[in-house]
Amino acid sequence: MNEKMIKTAIMGFGTVGSGVYEIIRDKSFAGETGDEIEVKYILDIRDFDDDEIKPMLTKNFEDILNDDEVNIAAEVMGGLHPAYEFTKQLLEKGKSVVTSNKELVATYGRELLETAQKNNALYMFEASVGGGIPVIRPMTVCTKANNITAIAGILNGTTNYILNEMFKKGKDFNDALADAQAKGYAEKNPAADIEGHDACRKLAILSSMAWGKVVNYNDIPTSGITDISLRDVAYVEKLSSVIKLIGYAMMNDEGKVYASVSPMIVPGENILSDVNGVFNAVMIRGNYLGDLVFYGKGAGKLPTASAVVADILDCSRHIGAKKHNIIWEETDEKIIADANEQTMTFLVRCRDNAQNIEKVFGDIEFVPVYDDETAFLVKDIKRGRLNAGLEKINGVIHALGVLDIR
Ligand code: HSE
Repeated sequence: MNEKMIKTAIMGFGTVGSGVYEIIRDKSFAGETGDEIEVKYILDIRDFDDDEIKPMLTKNFEDILNDDEVNIAAEVMGGLHPAYEFTKQLLEKGKSVVTSNKELVATYGRELLETAQKNNALYMFEASVGGGIPVIRPMTVCTKANNITAIAGILNGTTNYILNEMFKKGKDFNDALADAQAKGYAEKNPAADIEGHDACRKLAILSSMAWGKVVNYNDIPTSGITDISLRDVAYVEKLSSVIKLIGYAMMNDEGKVYASVSPMIVPGENILSDVNGVFNAVMIRGNYLGDLVFYGKGAGKLPTASAVVADILDCSRHIGAKKHNIIWEETDEKIIADANEQTMTFLVRCRDNAQNIEKVFGDIEFVPVYDDETAFLVKDIKRGRLNAGLEKINGVIHALGVLDIR
């Protein structure tokens, strides 16, 4: 056996787990790191009829936990339980864990980072945000001299794929979703994608990274793309814009953060308007750096698996000398600001008449497309005031905010 053989376990042999296995099998890392990586266990409750992986398969987590040869595990099973219990026990034994599981990182990240720290192990989660795009590591290392003042991004590949198909091909929402599922982009339960929860967890992780404090994803107002229709597409095209599911977090003058995940109108001149298909993009604004944009494949088997394998390699280089530089403080004071106080421009669709709308909102700009409804832009209004105004309007369909990250 090679002296520097690193033995790993893959926990979960789904889309990402099988990608991790294939990358490790097909690529020799010895020349690059001095170490060779070998998959010793593949943990899954299912049976697989594949001779190649049979010798590695186990249904018993204790095999991994109690094997002193295994010091790095990839948790790519998804979901909170038993992923949390497995990760915690491994870290307590001083084994490092890498993961693509954003739900787990967003929910138990602070505790698991602390457990890793205490036990001289690493907990790494590059693949949890933006699939194959390096964003966690740059935030841990490269942007550290900055105060981060804003994050805005397209954080979910499935919804970006769907919206793109609707805009570019006039496709129906359900057909585009089925297509994204077939391509392996969607979560097991696609509700997490289309209702915005997946993007919300990723935004919570990025915000915790940016401000060093736990940002609870339940505090981030979240809405998905299920009620976006081809009529919205028609209005937004008239504004030379597109609709994207945007996660943003922006620090206000009081040091609190306006955060939300929602479908937003992105003007054509904004770089995020050009992020198409399964691609994600994350914009990070630093006080010295200005704006930095990370762009790449945000979902899919091999892009995501490549980020998991990169974390395994990083762990392997740090065996015996482990020190985390990620600390998320738990604070009583909420970092998320009241969204009602945020000023924004909105496109409103309703079935009321122009006179009544102008009586409520004053100076507005109508966007005429369909005869059986009315659409208008109301500019620079606090969200709280908008909502109060919408109460007085008849037949409100919905309001979409316009992304303005000047
Ligand atoms: N379902 C997720 C997406 C996978 O579509 O972005 C990557 O986290």
